[in-house]
Amino acid sequence: MKHFVCVKDFEDYAYQILPRDTLDYYRGGAGREETLKSNRTSFSKYKIRPRCLRDVSRRDLSSIVLGQTVSVPIGISPSSMQRMAHPEGECANKLIKRAENAGFKALVLTVDSPMVGLRVADIKNGFKLPSHLRLANFQGDHSTTVSGKGTNTGSALNNLGDLYDPSLTWDDIKWLKSITHLPLVLKGILTAEDALLAANSGVAGILVSNHGGRQVDGWPASIEALSEVVNAVGDRVEIFMDGGITDGTDVFKALALGAKMVFIGRPALWGLACGGEEGVKQILSILRTEFEYAMAISGCPSVRNIERSMVVHESHYSKL
Ligand SMILES: Cc1cc2nc3c(=O)[nH]c(=O)nc-3n(C[C@H](O)[C@H](O)[C@H](O)COP(=O)(O)O)c2cc1C
Repeated sequence: MKHFVCVKDFEDYAYQILPRDTLDYYRGGAGREETLKSNRTSFSKYKIRPRCLRDVSRRDLSSIVLGQTVSVPIGISPSSMQRMAHPEGECANKLIKRAENAGFKALVLTVDSPMVGLRVADIKNGFKLPSHLRLANFQGDHSTTVSGKGTNTGSALNNLGDLYDPSLTWDDIKWLKSITHLPLVLKGILTAEDALLAANSGVAGILVSNHGGRQVDGWPASIEALSEVVNAVGDRVEIFMDGGITDGTDVFKALALGAKMVFIGRPALWGLACGGEEGVKQILSILRTEFEYAMAISGCPSVRNIERSMVVHESHYSKL
């Protein structure tokens, strides 16, 4: 694999080597892709207020997340159809009992997808899953649904029938909680109202996410919505976020704004496309190093030292 030093290097190379419709499926977002773009550009609107002369010779990047120690608070968000990027694809599938038996420590339920969003690039490409691939967690005809034709839009993603259930409600969260002892995290909450409903239904965590800008254009950037959710229920449940993280400074900003841990979607896919498992490891290692440097040089020897006051919106400086 080439010598890549940042996520952008992987992304640029993945753009060169992936087939057009695969690249568009991974890269693309809903509608005019304004939400997708703002996931990135909104990070630039937040600035780190560094502190000096605080011994950072010993550094601790670990955190406790849902009762488990993680060596660095950066994880990988779920993204489907990874075998189009590399034959290794997803190493593990997560259905509830299999997840419990396999020793997983939490369940994440995506709640922002009663239907699949209208993704312009996939519609134009008439996206379908290559014929040699299947949806591994589904049986029979369902596993090949995405190989067919999209009825209305042209993208097979918009023809997934009962693979998506638009009738889900908060009662289903109660049911899910009743059949598993694992802590439940709801992924895709962007408002204080839903954050309160989630906390009241006894979930352990909320992953603030706009699904990588893939569902509805016009939703806020995840980093913009983070504070609303943290202010509403941050003292009751653990808050996580994903969307637009491509650099260790993004991780620092999200943690300062109240996220306990962050997750990456596309960067992991770029790593997978460029170098399989090794490529994904490199992406995580690069983000870890960048995060460590951002922490230490801004005066934080450990994750616990990243305080809310260390990150401000850029408008802070024009008010001074
Ligand atoms: C190709 C692709 C497929 C995805 N599939 C899913 C999915 O099946 N379930 C889900 O909850 N989120 C899915 N997501 C959203 C990611 O989990 C995550 O929220 C998003 O990618 C984070 O934004 P980022 O790509 O800017 O890091 C997918 C994202 C991409 C790019």
